[in-house]
Amino acid sequence: MLITFEGIDGAGKSTQVKKLRKALTESGREVLTIREPGGTDVAEKIREILLESKNEITPVGELLLFSASRAELVQQVIRPALAAKKVVIVDRFHDSTTAYQGYGRGLDREMLQRINDIATFGLKPDRTFFLDLSPEDALIRKFSEKSIPLAFEESELDRMERSGLDFYRRVRNGYLELAKREKTRFVMLDASEPPERIHRKIWQKLMAACNGEPVPESRAHR
Ligand code: TYD
Repeated sequence: MLITFEGIDGAGKSTQVKKLRKALTESGREVLTIREPGGTDVAEKIREILLESKNEITPVGELLLFSASRAELVQQVIRPALAAKKVVIVDRFHDSTTAYQGYGRGLDREMLQRINDIATFGLKPDRTFFLDLSPEDALIRKFSEKSIPLAFEESELDRMERSGLDFYRRVRNGYLELAKREKTRFVMLDASEPPERIHRKIWQKLMAACNGEPVPESRAHR
């Protein structure tokens, strides 16, 4: 089974990934967790290029770098793990590209769709948990996590985080559109709720998706 987590920076994805990993492991499943971009030697190098704040990258270049990183990850890590019947949890996948490069940077959605299909080799998540939070709240949360005072220096932010509040508003709207379009796959959660409550909802949704059966092998592996 392939599970992805989505949301703007600071929405609390990594906390939920850890909680879900623990719960699935305790229920006897073999779990692999990964975060994008990254996950292979080459993808980690691409991640550095993408996030290094001094790098100037054009929107199309950015799209292709995220996609190159994903293609490596899918071929080298995700597909083999699904074939070995592991539950794979990915912190960001192709929906991030649609939300950030499509809605955020304004790239053509049809082109984006084609590139997403190439980079994922057609692999689709079985469930996508979208943690929804306003960009304002996310920013405050992110800074308090990093102990950055609100009167921060721009240099404390990575290249993506420097994109500004309007960019994050567009990204959030993108996610909301996606959630509306794919009602079964997308599970929208209010990220301002306490983490434990969010986790319980995720667990219930996952169990409901499996009809009370043990979490199945990936339907996405084809
Ligand atoms: P990261 O530090 O992993 O952020 P987070 O903890 O919020 O996931 O940095 C990844 C950044 O890259 C984040 O700002 C989202 C962005 N991103 C895209 O713009 N497009 C993509 O396809 C992916 C996977 C990430």
